[in-house]
Amino acid sequence: MSNGQPSGAPSTDDDIDFPFCPNASEKYEKIAKIGQGTFGEVFKARERKSKARLVAMKKVLMDNEKEGFPITALREIKILQLLDHENVVRLIEICRTRSGPYTRNKNTFYLVCEFCEHDLAGLLSNANIKFKLAEIKNVMQQLLNGLYYVHVNRVIHRDMKAANILITRTGVLKLADFGLSRAYKQTEKANRFTNRVVTLWYRPPELLLGARDYGPEIDLWGAGCIMAEMWTRTPIMQGGSEQSQLKLISQLCGSLTPEVWPGISSLDLYGKLELPEGQKRRVRDRMRGFMKDELAVDLVDKLLCVDPSKRIDSNKALDHDYFWSEPLPLSLGPLLSKITTSMFELHAPKRRSQWMHSRHQGQQQQPRQPPPQSDQHFERIF
Ligand SMILES: Nc1ncnc2c1ncn2[C@@H]1O[C@H](COP(=O)(O)OP(=O)(O)OP(=O)(O)O)[C@@H](O)[C@H]1O
Ligand SMILES: [Mg+2]
Repeated sequence: MSNGQPSGAPSTDDDIDFPFCPNASEKYEKIAKIGQGTFGEVFKARERKSKARLVAMKKVLMDNEKEGFPITALREIKILQLLDHENVVRLIEICRTRSGPYTRNKNTFYLVCEFCEHDLAGLLSNANIKFKLAEIKNVMQQLLNGLYYVHVNRVIHRDMKAANILITRTGVLKLADFGLSRAYKQTEKANRFTNRVVTLWYRPPELLLGARDYGPEIDLWGAGCIMAEMWTRTPIMQGGSEQSQLKLISQLCGSLTPEVWPGISSLDLYGKLELPEGQKRRVRDRMRGFMKDELAVDLVDKLLCVDPSKRIDSNKALDHDYFWSEPLPLSLGPLLSKITTSMFELHAPKRRSQWMHSRHQGQQQQPRQPPPQSDQHFERIF
């Protein structure tokens, strides 16, 4: 025994062999940084061997990890390995870079995923991209298809937002960023999940009021916010704190009371947080100012239902007449093929990226940013 370690125990990561973990820099050539998330950077890279295959490499943030591989990344990997669907981003493999003096003898790990040319936040920030009603239907249909699959597999995404929705060049939508997701079981016993999930602007009222026994409905609230954003082009409720987010929800969806939501009084923070009284539900009226299609208004209204037990689920939402009436959903392929630049949330105007990272509670949201100039978006050749 020396320095408190059993003899033969590796002293640095360098001594550990990872036979099933290819060397990232030998296998892939980084092209550009495309994302800066809470849990690490994301790079666009090319496979050296094929020279053609593009991938996204999400770096696993190992800082402050005294206890080894971060649990959040392990969860994301486990869940992505379980999921296999056209509308869910595909995890190809885990890679690492060899440790050395520059990396303090630590290995860096990457999640290598299929590459998608766009994220929805980036597309919505680009004033030159105009979605037709049929194209919005297609986006929402794919999003709900992905959610349906994820939920049937007993996974809750827990971070629905436009920046986590990827779209390929040919118009295939992929749910991404499963860093906060978790598997759930339907049991008799109440779950005790954390409610410190979902970026504030997309967080449903039950989580803001402290619910810990929640389910896939929380993702459908986010889907409703994203659907409305397809028209408004900016997140619809931009609160600066949990309290102000609840106020915005009440102003749009009506006062949060036991009359409209019988279970509300059992939530931990009900009675502790200030809830505006006497507010009428205005979802339909407000949405009509943006969307002319009455069926679209109806679906947003059903997704933004404050009582989670009455909120429409992905299965019923996919059956909604909105998707089965003219104009029928239309592929985004032709629209996207005209775009010669790739837009990611990272390069979109500041108003987006600044608040994107405050998905953990405790971290205060940044104050609302002024609207960007329409020609302010940053474009990158891909
Ligand atoms: N497979 C991919 N193809 C293309 N771009 C991607 C891919 N995966 C991630 N990105 C880009 O990187 C950004 C950050 O990735 P991701 O959301 O997975 O990381 P994160 O650290 O969990 O982010 P955040 O904390 O901002 O939610 C995405 O918003 C997207 O712009
Ligand atoms: Mg993300």
